[in-house]
Amino acid sequence: MGDSILQRIAFALEYPVVFTRTAFARDNASVAATLSRREPGRRHRFVAIVDGGVAARWPELFADIEAYARHHDLELAAPPWTVPGGEPAKQASIVDELHRRLAALHIDRHSFVIAIGGGAMLDVVGYAAATLHRGVRLVRMPTTVLGQNDAGVGVKNGINAFGAKNFLGTFAAPFAVINDSRFLATLEPRDRIAGMAEAVKVALIRDAGFFTWLVEHAAALAAFETEAVEHMIHRCAELHLAHIAGGGDPFEQGNARPLDFGHWAAHKLEMLTEHAVRHGEAVAIGMALDSRYAVEAGLLSEREYAAIVGLLGRLGLPVWHDVLRDPALSAGLGEFREHLGGELCLTLVSGLGHPIEVREIDGALLARAIEQLDPARRVAAQLG
Ligand SMILES: NC(=O)c1ccc[n+]([C@@H]2O[C@H](COP(=O)([O-])OP(=O)(O)OC[C@H]3O[C@@H](n4cnc5c(N)ncnc54)[C@H](O)[C@@H]3O)[C@@H](O)[C@H]2O)c1
Ligand SMILES: [Zn+2]
Repeated sequence: MGDSILQRIAFALEYPVVFTRTAFARDNASVAATLSRREPGRRHRFVAIVDGGVAARWPELFADIEAYARHHDLELAAPPWTVPGGEPAKQASIVDELHRRLAALHIDRHSFVIAIGGGAMLDVVGYAAATLHRGVRLVRMPTTVLGQNDAGVGVKNGINAFGAKNFLGTFAAPFAVINDSRFLATLEPRDRIAGMAEAVKVALIRDAGFFTWLVEHAAALAAFETEAVEHMIHRCAELHLAHIAGGGDPFEQGNARPLDFGHWAAHKLEMLTEHAVRHGEAVAIGMALDSRYAVEAGLLSEREYAAIVGLLGRLGLPVWHDVLRDPALSAGLGEFREHLGGELCLTLVSGLGHPIEVREIDGALLARAIEQLDPARRVAAQLG
């Protein structure tokens, strides 16, 4: 190999995930304390970028942020502004626009970008922040269930490109995450429920006890009762964080991706339905499919499969979409392989709380699993 130097850099990443209520109430210290966590003596400079869907439902938010900055002696570099919410925002033109504005405001590596919104908006602002000056400080304030229990707490960002989900993006830890449960009050019913799919997912791959808790509280969760929802979000976020920190592969350099259980089909479903299906809904369908596949492959019992689809159903999550009949769906496996880096490695479950890795998917068994899930087939079977 000739002369070589083996470079080795080891360092720890650390960021707080704060759970609070009404973060921009004047007497709530969370945001101010978070910004000054590393340099308490400094007058911190920040911008606040808000999901359009959030701004529409919280008309007083901009004024609250401005009043909060004055009260806590923070420098707001510009009045807060919005970017569109939802999946269509995850595109290059929005990143470009964000770069332009942040550059004009001289946002540097000591300033903060506070992003307030759903998982999609956090992904696009996160990508813009991570690439501006090779990374400016980002504080995420997720405003959806899925944002608070999954998308907003991790170390990834991304936008869609060339017809593929999250095709461009970076691994970048946030400076902090602030989960303000108040925001959840204005979510559309389907967005309240969609994010619960990630709780089922993380329970299935890491914590059978949490799965049981979800089953026991399914009715309260489906009714969006505050106490149950807050516990679900906290535990789900905690399990995601534990997995990212302790799973041995925070930046996903290997092939195994347990947190992507149910996601290969989910990503394809989202693209094939042009995002008519929410990410969480697609994950629920993807988990139902992969669980049925696991039964067909002799890895999972019928009883555990029934428990999984039963829970998804009781939460109000879908377990089927007609697009599953589209042969293009299986092409999603090839794309997922590419996304992983060449070799297929899917996480399935062999029991509640028991992940199992598989290196290939049998086409015939997959077709059978889809057929088994298809409600049309079930109706036909009942009639016949
Ligand atoms: N980076 C990651 O690690 C990661 C992980 C999981 C998911 N994701 C991404 O997250 C996205 C899904 O996020 P999501 O489920 O939060 O949906 P979303 O961001 O698409 O938001 C759904 C809708 O809710 C609106 N909204 C947001 N907060 C609201 C509030 N408080 N009140 C009313 N409306 C509100 C938005 O404007 C949008 O129209 C997907 O793009 C997915 O790929 C990223
Ligand atoms: Zn997901």
